Amino acid sequence: MKKMTESCIKDALAGESQAHVKYSVFGEKATKEGLPNVARLFHAASFAERVHAARHLAVLSGVGDTATNLQAARGGENFEVEEMYAAFAAVAALQGEADAAKAIDHALKAEVEHRALYDLAIAAVGAGNDLTADPIHVCSYCGHTWTGDIPDKCQICDTPSKLFHTF
Ligand SMILES: [Fe+2]
Ligand SMILES: [Fe+2]
Repeated sequence: MKKMTESCIKDALAGESQAHVKYSVFGEKATKEGLPNVARLFHAASFAERVHAARHLAVLSGVGDTATNLQAARGGENFEVEEMYAAFAAVAALQGEADAAKAIDHALKAEVEHRALYDLAIAAVGAGNDLTADPIHVCSYCGHTWTGDIPDKCQICDTPSKLFHTF
């Protein structure tokens, strides 16, 4: 692909990805405010933005087979842990931005877990297997991601277990 077009599609992927998340969160807010039909509009638009983002990703040849995708995912998590969030944490601390520092710290801890889980998946798929069927739990406040027992509260942020999502 020609460089300028590639740059445009990368920008479009980033923008649509953000809109997907933003509209989804806006939809949750509208639901809480007792506006279910506005919520429906936000969730429909969020899904449409995901369609666009997935299309741009495909145009960029950003989807491979699962072994390739796992390596890409692992690489992204590793970058976030070793460079991006490590550097962002230092900036937030330097500037005394407590809320940002906390959000960065929670994300950094979860990315470490994601990297480890991807490593398990890379090993499994490399050996010709799927991952084990163990449920994977996520804290809906901090993103803590783990397999195994469900404690009463999140072990990172104390959020109660009823707010965990299991996959
Ligand atoms: Fe992650
Ligand atoms: Fe948490």
